[in-house]
Amino acid sequence: MRLDVFVEGKASCRHAMRCMPVAEVTSAGSSKRRLAVFVSGGGSNFRCIHEACLRGDVHGEVVVVVSNRADCGGVLYANKHQIPIIIFPAEGPAAGLSAEELAAELQKAEVEFVLLAGYLKLVPSEVVQAFPRRMLNIHPALLPAFGGKGYYGMRVHKAVVASGVRFSGPTVHFVDEEFDRGPILAQRIVPVNPVESPEIVASNVLHEEHKLYPACVAALCSNRITWREDGVPIIWSPQ
Ligand code: GRF
Repeated sequence: MRLDVFVEGKASCRHAMRCMPVAEVTSAGSSKRRLAVFVSGGGSNFRCIHEACLRGDVHGEVVVVVSNRADCGGVLYANKHQIPIIIFPAEGPAAGLSAEELAAELQKAEVEFVLLAGYLKLVPSEVVQAFPRRMLNIHPALLPAFGGKGYYGMRVHKAVVASGVRFSGPTVHFVDEEFDRGPILAQRIVPVNPVESPEIVASNVLHEEHKLYPACVAALCSNRITWREDGVPIIWSPQ
């Protein structure tokens, strides 16, 4: 096994930080890993992950979609592919599922990994705690910059361009109880030309998201992620 190309750093574990022995990276079992995807918008990342599952590039299966918006593109896509949908949190006077009930539903569906793909609500701590080291998010900037509450959608890319930074790119990270704060798993670099519009930056970053997120999910589903002793996750390439 070697460190995956989109993880920066040296492959050797002899230096500085200690990490789990490579021998602890095991190959996937035969049954597909059961995935839940949370969406609020167009769902292009969800679609890329679902297509990667169908192609066999990801050893997983999307068994449920969770959304706060019954009419978003991600939900329409799930409907088209007969993937069960849970609306959470439900809006309006009719009481929807509580956070505990959502966690229970996911467990009943035998979900192993939760993937946030443009879900704009904070995931309740009851759900986060039910999936320790088993929930990923993708953010359209290089965390820890340009992340946290209020940094979503075009707001992120406008802030990136306004700041004058010359690089942006997606970050995939594990989820904790704060927006965009959990351990970083992988990033991709996207150059930012200072005369480009935020829309162009958004499009360039999204293009990389569509490659990075399925690659991370593939690693997750094939047990190719280990944890450095201090809690930093590391992806290993298949050999
Ligand atoms: C992506 O830019 C992702 O990084 C962010 O929300 C957006 C979702 O886009 N978290 P889509 O719905 O997957 O097209």
